[in-house]
Amino acid sequence: MERGRLFRYDCHDGTPSATARFERDFAAALGARYAVAVNSCSSGLFLSLLACGVQPGDEVLVPAFTFIAVPSAVVHAQASPVLVDTTDDYAIDLDDLVAKITPRTRALLLSYMRGYVPDLDRVVEICRERGITLVEDVAHGLGQRWDGTSLGRFGRAAAFSFQSYKLLDGGEGGMVVTDDREVALRVILYAGCYDRNWQWHFVTDDDRAWLAAHINTVPAYAMRMSNLTAAALLPQVPCIEPRVTQLGERFERFTGRLDGAPLRIPSHPPKLSPVRDSFQCEVALDEAGRARFVDACVAKGLPLGIFGLDPSNSRCFWNWSFARFDDCPRTRDLLMRTADMPLPLWLDDSILDYFADAIHASLAEAGAA
Ligand SMILES: Cc1ncc(COP(=O)(O)O)c(C=O)c1O
Repeated sequence: MERGRLFRYDCHDGTPSATARFERDFAAALGARYAVAVNSCSSGLFLSLLACGVQPGDEVLVPAFTFIAVPSAVVHAQASPVLVDTTDDYAIDLDDLVAKITPRTRALLLSYMRGYVPDLDRVVEICRERGITLVEDVAHGLGQRWDGTSLGRFGRAAAFSFQSYKLLDGGEGGMVVTDDREVALRVILYAGCYDRNWQWHFVTDDDRAWLAAHINTVPAYAMRMSNLTAAALLPQVPCIEPRVTQLGERFERFTGRLDGAPLRIPSHPPKLSPVRDSFQCEVALDEAGRARFVDACVAKGLPLGIFGLDPSNSRCFWNWSFARFDDCPRTRDLLMRTADMPLPLWLDDSILDYFADAIHASLAEAGAA
């Protein structure tokens, strides 16, 4: 703000922009060749699909347990989202995935909703064998690793979110991460690089030559990140690991205090190191009892709800009426019985202890054994 250069391409004094520096640091943190900053993860998903060659009319597989933004990115790319059902472990059902592949299937947009991850070794194998492009939605997966490798490093491209409820908070913002040179350079162009502004990216001379040769050959959608956003995010990059550790310790404390409660708290596969910034559980009550439980929690000030009981919940596929979606009965069933609550870092231990005690009391009030 002191320099008065809020636009990422306003670098005419030769100083790299905050946005370019954030891209460089984020790519290094992920061990990726390229990171391209955009104005949201939704934009990142849309541009990744375009850059990976998804065409109007293609089918893109999407987990049925996800946020509205994910099928929306597919619709934005003029492709058709095809929902894939969910396992009892909250991950995409890989048998249903295979069953839903058709000759029109171009990509799998794999969303790690609430940090739940399928057997990624198998996902990668299925995509390779069936010629399907894997694009990862890592909005909820920053800091997570599968068998030691960061999420976002398995697909041809991956998009991250920096909207305020995410691990790094830029208010809004997103990042596309990829090792694929042409995908990265196309995302730079689609995101709104114009004139000779490719010179302000940290890319190689060869990349600059490619960009110079391809400028104005694809639409420029003005989905760039602002330097204001990048300035907020840049100092947070070294915070990824400490925040992950802190979230894990708090989650242990919180769930330890819930020991003995009549709840099922979903577990993760052994290969996953999760990031615990939210809490899900299944309550051993019928639908009316679950509603009583939620009401009792809300009355005590908890930000807890059951996905499927809220008709405006944007994570329930049956509430999306902007496209045609086939039913996914196991996802529907899971969402009708799963309680969900954010556990952001700013909640201190005393609040978390209060939340756990309030859950015990609410279960008793709702009649759970
Ligand atoms: C699972 C999931 N994917 C993608 C997005 C899109 O993120 P953004 O708001 O940065 O576009 C969200 C947003 O919260 C999300 O929850």
